[in-house]
Amino acid sequence: MAKIYYYIGLMSGTSLDGVDTVLVGFDQLKPTLITSRIHSIDPDLRESLLKTIHPEWQGSLADVGILNQRLGKLFADSACALIKDNNIDKSAITAIGSHGQTLWHQPIGKNPFSLQLGDASIIAEQTGITTIADFRSRDIAAGGQGAPLVPAFHKELLSHPDKNRVILNVGGISNITILPASDSSKSASGFDTGPGNGLLDAWIAKHQATSYDKNGDWAKSGTINENILNTLLSEAYFSLHPPKSTGKELFNLTWLENLIGNKLHQEKPEDIQATLTELTAKSISDNVIDCDELYVCGGGTHNSYLIERLKYHLPDTEIGSTAKLGIDPDWMEAIAFAWLAKQAHENKTGNLPSVTGAKGKRILGAIYPA
Ligand SMILES: Nc1ncnc2c1ncn2[C@@H]1O[C@H](COP(=O)(O)OP(=O)(O)O)[C@@H](O)[C@H]1O
Ligand SMILES: [Mg+2]
Repeated sequence: MAKIYYYIGLMSGTSLDGVDTVLVGFDQLKPTLITSRIHSIDPDLRESLLKTIHPEWQGSLADVGILNQRLGKLFADSACALIKDNNIDKSAITAIGSHGQTLWHQPIGKNPFSLQLGDASIIAEQTGITTIADFRSRDIAAGGQGAPLVPAFHKELLSHPDKNRVILNVGGISNITILPASDSSKSASGFDTGPGNGLLDAWIAKHQATSYDKNGDWAKSGTINENILNTLLSEAYFSLHPPKSTGKELFNLTWLENLIGNKLHQEKPEDIQATLTELTAKSISDNVIDCDELYVCGGGTHNSYLIERLKYHLPDTEIGSTAKLGIDPDWMEAIAFAWLAKQAHENKTGNLPSVTGAKGKRILGAIYPA
């Protein structure tokens, strides 16, 4: 029997909805999700993160150092809880892949960088397991965007010989992986399409006592405002050619207010929610061309109104969740970071230059030995 290698993946995206934590067994190539948990981020830490990520934040380096330490502890706690709750023999785990919490992603310009926090030394120290972190920097150093990184994993695992597939991840931001039929001569590509749940979460939090629009019900109760939608779609990011990646630094409520002005507050808030959901759907569907099958993962999979709008805009594409391909849509990204850790541990490359724009394939991540 082929040996199985075990890795832990830790992922916390821009939604700040919790730390996705998975134990994955890799048998040759195929990953099997053994167990998973989501570790909540306490409200005080979440508040500090939201404040720090805000474009007008004025804080000190000490604040950043403290966040790095608190996040490192949070990730370590989640990995330890996964191990303890499932009576896992730690010595069987080869390594942990930790994405870190993105504070700022600025991959273009004179000084490109992507900043993830969550001290990996603390994770290695507390778990006693080799930890691999800082996956994005090397790709950026090689001229890439450092993002998105999951397409390499999608390509390895989810390509089909004669179907053109797209894998769509709807997190705080949305990204797609375009997987042409593997028998064709086209290569895989992918990029961030723009907003995912991020604007939806921010708008509903401002108007209702909840952090997200369950099933998209509130948006569905409103009416799409075509004028506002068209103004939002005029954002330059949408017409940039890939490689491209983005984050909360751009798509936030300040962006919305700057584009719409007072009109934003004169409309019914549920109409704005409907319009923002349409913005997410449209900015995704505009990029899905000549695609037989679209598979969705990330929290947005559960927004049935968003999925309904995607189906409306893509009538000729079969749309389902990645569960159909054997990967639970809620854990795709965390599983991908377990895979990226495996790649690094085995001295294998983890980026797709056709996606990130890097000069070449690179081994990603920094290793913190057990
Ligand atoms: N039942 C649901 N209905 C609508 N939206 C949902 C539902 N469940 C999760 N979400 C959305 O998914 C988001 C989390 O998605 P996730 O993929 O974890 O994003 P990130 O990678 O940014 O953390 C939540 O903030 C929420 O907006
Ligand atoms: Mg999340």
